[in-house]
Amino acid sequence: MTLKNKLGIENQVELAHVEEKISKQNAIKLWNSAEFKEMSAGTFETLAKIHKALFEEIYDFAGKLRGENISNGNFRFASALYLRDAVLTVEKMPQKNFNEIVEKYVEMNVAHPFREGNGRSMRLWLDHIFKSELKKVIDWSNVDKNFYLQAMERSPINDSAIKKLLAAALTDKVDDREIFMNGLDASYFYENYFAYRSEDL
Ligand SMILES: Nc1ncnc2c1ncn2[C@@H]1O[C@H](COP(=O)(O)OP(=O)(O)O)[C@@H](O)[C@H]1O
Ligand SMILES: [Mg+2]
Repeated sequence: MTLKNKLGIENQVELAHVEEKISKQNAIKLWNSAEFKEMSAGTFETLAKIHKALFEEIYDFAGKLRGENISNGNFRFASALYLRDAVLTVEKMPQKNFNEIVEKYVEMNVAHPFREGNGRSMRLWLDHIFKSELKKVIDWSNVDKNFYLQAMERSPINDSAIKKLLAAALTDKVDDREIFMNGLDASYFYENYFAYRSEDL
């Protein structure tokens, strides 16, 4: 079923293409903006701003907590009833070192605040924390899709696989446009969006 959207698109393939194109363009604009650099790292407000920036033209729920319960495979994300408490608890988690930052990311993923677009917005949020706290980012083009998804599926129970995978892909090239653009394409590829290359947008 196609998600209700502001563009009135009812065809799933068409919506996927339009969503990818618009939200990738928005992600690139956000990455280049002074506003993004000034956002406070690791807060829910910043994650909501990222989500809103990406999906504002497409979905009414952009930047807003979801009101429905959602799951993926066997895993049920935080109940919509307790979502506000959940994200506020996660935002208070420390983020001083690599392990703390990944643990915070794992918990924000368990919350899954939005109806859709959690993976893509949260990876930008994670890099924003890494950049501000450690002067590093993840080179997502060096993180294999299947390993990543398996590690995230495992992460609510055991976070060692996701820690190991991300640690191996850390880079200090935090302002490298090519690493960002290829990483954005990788992040979209994890979610099966691969019709556009960021470099061509
Ligand atoms: N079974 C699972 N358990 C925990 N996390 C999961 C599971 N399946 C997917 N994820 C995480 O959720 C993300 C996808 O969330 P989603 O809201 O669909 O984002 P997007 O719309 O950007 O694809 C994945 O990238 C992964 O990090
Ligand atoms: Mg999705």
